[in-house]
Amino acid sequence: MKTGRFITFEGIDGSGKSTQARLFAAYLKAKGGEVVLTREPGGSHGAEEIRRLLVEGNPDRWSPETEILLFTAARRDHLEKTILPALDRGASVVSDRFADSTRVYQGAARGDLRALVDQLHDAVIGKEPDLTFVIDMDPAEALRRGLARQSGEDRFEDMGAGFQERLRDEFHRLVEEHPDRCHLVDGQHDPDVIAREVAEIADRAE
Ligand code: ADP
Ligand code: TYD
Repeated sequence: MKTGRFITFEGIDGSGKSTQARLFAAYLKAKGGEVVLTREPGGSHGAEEIRRLLVEGNPDRWSPETEILLFTAARRDHLEKTILPALDRGASVVSDRFADSTRVYQGAARGDLRALVDQLHDAVIGKEPDLTFVIDMDPAEALRRGLARQSGEDRFEDMGAGFQERLRDEFHRLVEEHPDRCHLVDGQHDPDVIAREVAEIADRAE
């Protein structure tokens, strides 16, 4: 059987990625076939437990090195338990964040640790999406949207507007580095307008 397609959504906090991941999964489902909608950090039982350690508490709770290890541990479990089994049975997998988030977030926080991020990825993950959508958004607007949710998961949002600006720049750089896989999508439109653009790009790339 043909392996399924692995599609990821990336962007700064509050950019609208979860909304778009949901809409895109619904679009794929309507076309037929199994679709698994998942997220990081999380997406499997063990990874959801690690998620709580990462997104709650003080911004300085973990050193950048520890944080990279925790995100990578969560991703390995997610990959083993959810992503690879789904792709192997021919399902499409739509993930709200994946390895690009570690490259961008941990790279933006501490650029000198990018080599560690890449080494760990190569050693224990070694999987890239077929297609990645980066939802581009003004950090001030995204921060307003994100904090308005009051999810209690604001450890990264609490790192402030300057950090979100650096993240946006890093996401732009990521798209430039991987023009075949990554597509930058303007997140300032209505959700349905963005969803149509995403679906068109995905259909063209198929
Ligand atoms: P993320 O997953 O990137 O943090 P969400 O999809 O959870 O973002 O969206 C954050 C908030 O903004 C939610 O309250 C959501 O309903 C709202 N939102 C999402 N997309 C849009 C959009 N295109 N325009 C206006 N509000 C949006
Ligand atoms: P997420 O639940 O996607 O938050 P949001 O919906 O607010 O965008 O992710 C939680 C936080 O974890 C988010 O601030 C981004 C951060 N993160 C990293 O720093 N590195 C990673 O590898 C991942 C997957 C997430």
